[in-house]
Amino acid sequence: MEKIVSLCKRRGFIFQSSGIYGGINGCWDFGPLGVELKRNLKDDWWYVFVQQREDIVGLDASIIMHPDVWVASGHVAEFHDMLVDCKECKHRFREDHLEGDRCPDCGGELTEPKAFNSMLKTRLGVSDESAVDTYLRPETCQAIFVDFKEVYSSSRTKVPFGIAQIGKSFRNEVNPRNFIFRSREFEQMEIEFFCKAEEEEAWFDRWQRDIWQWYLDLGLTEGKLRWYEHPKESLSHYSKRTVDVEYDFPFGWGELQGLANRGTYDLTQHTNHSGKDLKFFDQEAHESYIPTVIEPSAGADRTCLAVLCDAYCEEEVPTAKEGETETRIVMKFSPRLAPIKAAVLPLVKKDGLAEIGQELERKLRKKFNTFYDQSGAIGRRYRRMDEVGTPYCICLDYETKENETVTIRDRDTMEQIRIKMDEVADYIGQRCSHERD
Ligand code: GAP
Repeated sequence: MEKIVSLCKRRGFIFQSSGIYGGINGCWDFGPLGVELKRNLKDDWWYVFVQQREDIVGLDASIIMHPDVWVASGHVAEFHDMLVDCKECKHRFREDHLEGDRCPDCGGELTEPKAFNSMLKTRLGVSDESAVDTYLRPETCQAIFVDFKEVYSSSRTKVPFGIAQIGKSFRNEVNPRNFIFRSREFEQMEIEFFCKAEEEEAWFDRWQRDIWQWYLDLGLTEGKLRWYEHPKESLSHYSKRTVDVEYDFPFGWGELQGLANRGTYDLTQHTNHSGKDLKFFDQEAHESYIPTVIEPSAGADRTCLAVLCDAYCEEEVPTAKEGETETRIVMKFSPRLAPIKAAVLPLVKKDGLAEIGQELERKLRKKFNTFYDQSGAIGRRYRRMDEVGTPYCICLDYETKENETVTIRDRDTMEQIRIKMDEVADYIGQRCSHERD
């Protein structure tokens, strides 16, 4: 884990928020490469679960909602962690994270557990007197329930259908830890899928298959993925059944996504609290009913972390010197997720190769993310690109001027092929998109 955190900082994937002020616990910033990686991941999710499906529509709702939403959803009453304090060192812990009944840091005696609400409070309004307390949303899905009628009546969708949303959520986690795995500000990718009660099990099974397949298509190692079924007694207040997809991180198994059967809980709660009818009217059957909800809820940051952990490789490779080897660090991202798709590297700056290289890079840049590098030994430039997971390196050499060809080096096999310069964009474009699937 230390190696991954250090690479993320060194190469500008992810670093601590507010670093020059000493950092702030549980908040992280995605740098130039991290933002590309996370954006590719979110775009992939949107492409697979929204764009490619006829039964899902999107939403981008506000983060701050009416405070009554959180009363209706049950978060004000139920979204608690039970905390204990150490009487000696004063450290605070989640009771469910403790293994024994003494302080894990100093062995001291612990207090009785106290409930602590995990929502982040904020105030909305321009004067102290008129401002109201509300919360930054702890999950994106509540807006989907609140906007349910607005969406279905304006988009002519019919049950069964889903509403998808990607956005920030906030939780005042007691122990943010394991890099971006558990943070206080994070992004969720959620779908609320509305169906008839009698079809809930069939849809639950279908969603289990679909989300599992998505992780495989991202290139995650299947042996590092597993399902975890929540025992009935530890289900969230809204859930009839929950299973999680877990990934085997260097610090142990951790949840990537929850799949829950929320039944009619949320729409019923919002109907009761708002006084507005949130039933779906089935025009063919001439009946109104509150649909059942199956919810796949994934974390963008956690998936990013799984992708980073899965991609990290150290390999011993021969150097230019006979019999010597060196360690190559390579991020084997799926080409679709790689922050940079291709690097253009002229073998030398002179003889017009730099100009031809820059011209080629400008053309490729119109189609996908590229990087131009003309400084240093070619081997070192390849290594720099391996370390940030660039799947293709295009090298311009002495033949380029003779016959307008370049070599393309594959990041994983390190093999090179020679192709015409005007075929490069298609060659790389196809391999870095869903076109190839
Ligand atoms: N709407 C249901 C819901 O929010 P959850 O299991 O609490 O369910 C769903 O959260 C996903 O959000 C998790 O599987 C995880 O990927 C992500 N997530 C939750 N808390 C997180 C945190 N503190 N830091 C990073 N990701 C988090």
